Order: sequence, then structure tokens, then C-alpha cells
Amino acid sequence: MCGIYGCISENASVQVLEGLRKLEYRGYDSAGLAAIFSDNNDPIETERTTGYVSDLVLKANGRFDGAKISIGHTRWATHGGVTDHNAHPHSSEDGKITLVHNGIIENSANLSNKISKLGYALSSETDTEVIVHLLDHELKTQSDGKSHLDAFCNVISQLEGSWAIAAMATGLDGILISRKGAPLVIGRGQGNISVSSDVQPFYGACSEVAYMKDGDNFLLTSSGISSQIDLEIPEFEVLEGIYDEEDPGNFPHMMLKEIHDQPTSLSNALSGRISSDGLGAELSGLELSIEQIMKLDRINLVACGTAYYASEIICSYIRRLTQVRAEAFIASEFPAKSVCSPNTLTIGVSQSGETKDTLDALFKAKKFGSHISSFCNVIGSTMSRLTGNGAYLHAGPEYAVASTKVFTNMVAVGLLFALTISDIKQSEKKKIIHELRKLPNIISSQLIDMDDSISDAAEMINSSEPPIFIGRGALSSFTAKEGALKMMEISYIPCLALPGGELKHGPIALISDGSPVIAIAPSDSHLSMMESSIRECKSRGAKIILVTDNEGPISDLADIILQTNHTHPELSPFVNAIPIQLLAYQVGIRNGVNVDRPRNLAKSVTVV
Ligand code: AGP
Repeated sequence: MCGIYGCISENASVQVLEGLRKLEYRGYDSAGLAAIFSDNNDPIETERTTGYVSDLVLKANGRFDGAKISIGHTRWATHGGVTDHNAHPHSSEDGKITLVHNGIIENSANLSNKISKLGYALSSETDTEVIVHLLDHELKTQSDGKSHLDAFCNVISQLEGSWAIAAMATGLDGILISRKGAPLVIGRGQGNISVSSDVQPFYGACSEVAYMKDGDNFLLTSSGISSQIDLEIPEFEVLEGIYDEEDPGNFPHMMLKEIHDQPTSLSNALSGRISSDGLGAELSGLELSIEQIMKLDRINLVACGTAYYASEIICSYIRRLTQVRAEAFIASEFPAKSVCSPNTLTIGVSQSGETKDTLDALFKAKKFGSHISSFCNVIGSTMSRLTGNGAYLHAGPEYAVASTKVFTNMVAVGLLFALTISDIKQSEKKKIIHELRKLPNIISSQLIDMDDSISDAAEMINSSEPPIFIGRGALSSFTAKEGALKMMEISYIPCLALPGGELKHGPIALISDGSPVIAIAPSDSHLSMMESSIRECKSRGAKIILVTDNEGPISDLADIILQTNHTHPELSPFVNAIPIQLLAYQVGIRNGVNVDRPRNLAKSVTVV
């Protein structure tokens, strides 16, 4: 989603363009840049364009080189179409103030009435432009002795909604920044001070980071951060972690590379979290002790999209391996009031740790007294800082918009959590842990052994007959849902996913000659029921793509078999995830989709 990068240094715009490039993975549809070169009172130089950062670089054509202060933006459209005019930065009529914004200004309609009465006209359809005119008005009318920061804070106090804002003005030796409900972090390096939507662009440019809080309004100058007197300034701390460049290596796309990363990412998720005797899991980092968790009234998991499907699988583990009640919720639908109390725990599950819906659900949970925690991939993200405890997913950076390796790492960390608090028989636990340890190797051989069957299955799928994904039991039916989401995201083909038993209650009406049905059928207690569901489809003309490790009679029903490796039934989501990810990838490629950057989607969804 929108990305902001700002910098004060000897060659600020070069750093901003590089920063924007490193924020590209968040997803965007247009980009823009602004720069100040000297102390004189000239209008601020700006450029903006639909398309990619590379288009912006071409359009800028070196014009911004040597700028001392610069801000840039990648826009993911919410208010107004994808046009140059709606791209950020937005500038005052005289061009002496300009700003970029991430988030949504909910009272923009009221504010635009206000500014039109003051004689300002909007030149875009965005909810952002009002802010720059309000700032212009404030600066022109505020009393002597007031600063740019005072004017900025007055404008910010009129806004409702969520935002990260960076603004510049001629005559101001810095960048005004504000955060509420959208991420913004400050970095400091040799000869530069920078601001960014996330820490990724800081690697290589900054050695220290300072995390802004909601409600922070600052002026950033080459000498540091300043605020109005009553506001605490965040301390700089060492920038931890390493930057993994968005480089697919020998793979044609990041998504395919990330699918193939899974043996390593799973191994990282498990590393140090299984006891040396192989009998227990040790997920440390949680605020509550195992005894406290076991006595909870309930555990809520809140998440969106892929993270939500992983959460449903995690809940199923918690329910089966422990006595604690657990339920997963789509974060934007979280009924906090009815499921949160002091004896509950609400866990946010997220790759980015910046998903606004999930953060809002955690805020609500906290408000109603629940303990909060997170399973999150990005170190230092808003979610991990908000909860202050939890478990990192350790999947490494995931750049492709369609989540793959993080899905399996979420399920792995969730399973470790369930095992940590589990009170099932030691012998049962040992069997799962024994197989869990082998999982990276099992996945590795599965990736190597996948044959032409994936291409054959991809060939069978076309947009005229929407694929239906089915499974039975939480592990397989939510893997089926993840399969359908993956395929929709990167092939643009409408897909349906449901528990096999539900077909006959309506959706079976969709099946006709040649309808592709992707059946997730591991060797578990649901296998014979799955066989019934598959027969119901087959007898109505469906073509069956069977995802299974089973070599029994069920395989006779298949038109194509996507063979998986055999493992403990509790681990079936891991082996089943691989073929459905590869299938979605291949269908996406056949449909000519930019699978790493599918249309309309953002990697980090920071609006509600
Ligand atoms: C996954 O393929 C999606 N792009 C999307 O559903 C994603 O999982 C969701 O937006 C949640 O993101 P998060 O994990 O960063 O919170």
C-alpha cells in the first residue's frame, strides 16, 4: 500500500528514489517526488506519474539530483482514480508547500467545504489535497512567532481518520512528519536523516532507527527530531536485522523463489523451538506463562486474508491439542465486546505487522481487557511493538504480494504454540514433533519431485469454468480456501472454496461438464467422506485435480493427481500448500499476470 520516503542529505532525491524502489513490494499504482535545492524562496520542484518508480525516474530525468531535502511517495489509490493528478505529492497553489500522505482522511468532505469557503480549489479527487491547503492557510494566517511545526500541528488536529504524512515548505530546513494509524519510522545514517513507511529502505542507508507513535508530530532536520514542547521524542536505537534484496536469483519471479524458500523458512521457524529431547515445543517470548494460558477462558486469533486462513488452521490445532477454547476471526469483523475479557488472549497473526484491520482488532481487544500478543514476520513492525510479546515467524522478507512461505510459517508457529500449551499424551506429542522436525526435508523433496502434473492441472483451468476447491476438516478446508485465494489473486479467475460436505447444499449447481474441482484429500480421518464429495462432483462431469498422499482407491477418481509426500495427518496443510501455490503460480503465468505485483493488491494493507 502507499509508501512514504523522505530524506535530508547531500543527495536527498537519489536516496528517496532508492527508498521508493525498496518500498515497491508494498504495492502501488503511481509514484511522485518533491525536492528543495536551496534556501531561496522558489516553488518546490515536483514530479509524479502513474506506473512504476522506474517511470518516475525516467520522467524526473536527473532533474532532482543534488537536492538537499526530498520526499517521495508510492500511491495505492483509494480516493480518486489512478491518474497523474491524484498521485502524490500534492502542492499548494503557489507550489511552496507540498506533502505526501498514507491512510484515509475520513472528514475530507467537510474539510474541502471549509477550504473552498477560504477560496481554495482542489485539483485532485484525493482525500489528501485538503491538508496542503489547510497548511497553506494556517501558515499565512498564524500569528508572528509561530513556527511551521505549530501550523502543521494545528492542521493535524483538524484531521480525522488515519495517516502518515510528510510535508515540506520553502524556507523550512526540514520535513514535517505526523503519524496516526499508519506506519512511519525515522532513520539516521552517515550524513542523512530519513523517514519511511517501514524499515526496509533503511538497510544500507541508516544504522539507527526511531519508531514514531500514533499522535507524534515532528520536524525532522539535519540535526535531528524536534517537537512541540509537550511531546516525547523517540530515542534512536540500532537498526537490527539484515536487508534481503528483492532478488529472485535463478527464479523467474519472487513468488516462485519464495515458494522454494519454504524448506529454509520452515527450518528457521522451528529452529531452537523444539526441546532437545524432542518431546516438547518451547515457544518463548509470550507474556503469559503456559499455566496462565491453559487457564484462559478463550484464545482469539485475529487476521486477514491468508493470515486468517492460517489462523483457522492454528485454532484447529489449539482446539485439538489443548483444552483451551480458540476461535479465529476476520480482523475487520472482530466482535471484541463479546469475546474479550481479562481472562482471554487475543493474538494478531500477520506477515507485515502493519495490517490496519488486524491492528484495530488488537486495539479493541485491549480496550475490553484481553491480553494481546502477535505472530508476526516483520521485526519492529507496529504490531510487534504494540503487543510487546509473541513469536516472530522468521520466514525472511516476503516480497511477492501473494503470501506463500509466510502462510506455512504461520501454521508452523501456530502449531508450536499449540504444542507448547498442549496436554495431550506425551507419546502423541512426540509423534507430531518427530514429523515436524522432518518437515523441511519433506517439503524440500516435495518441491524437487513435483512433476509435470502441475502444468497439466494448470492447463485444465481457464476462466470459463471457475475452479472449486474442496477439503474436509478444518486443516484441509482452510487449505482449500487459501488455494482459492492464491489463484484468484494472481490469475484473476473467480474461484470458490468450501468444505466438501457443503457442496450438495447449493454450490454443486455450478458444476457442469469439465468444471475443475481441486480436492484436498490427505490420508486423514476425513478421507472416505472426501471420496463421497469427489464422487458427487465427478458424476456431474467435473474434472478432478486431486491433491493427496494417498495411493488407495481415491486416486482412481482423479483426472490429475498432485502427489504429496506422506506425513503426520496434523501436518497435511504444509504438504498440501505446496501444490496449490505452484498451481496458482502456473495459472497466473499462463494468464499473463505479473504474479509478483497483481493488479489492485498491496502487500501491506494499511487502510480499513
Ligand atoms: C496473501 O496472499 C494476501 N496478499 C493477503 O490476503 C494478506 O495475507 C493479508 O492482507 C494479510 O496481510 P498480513 O499478513 O501482512 O497482515
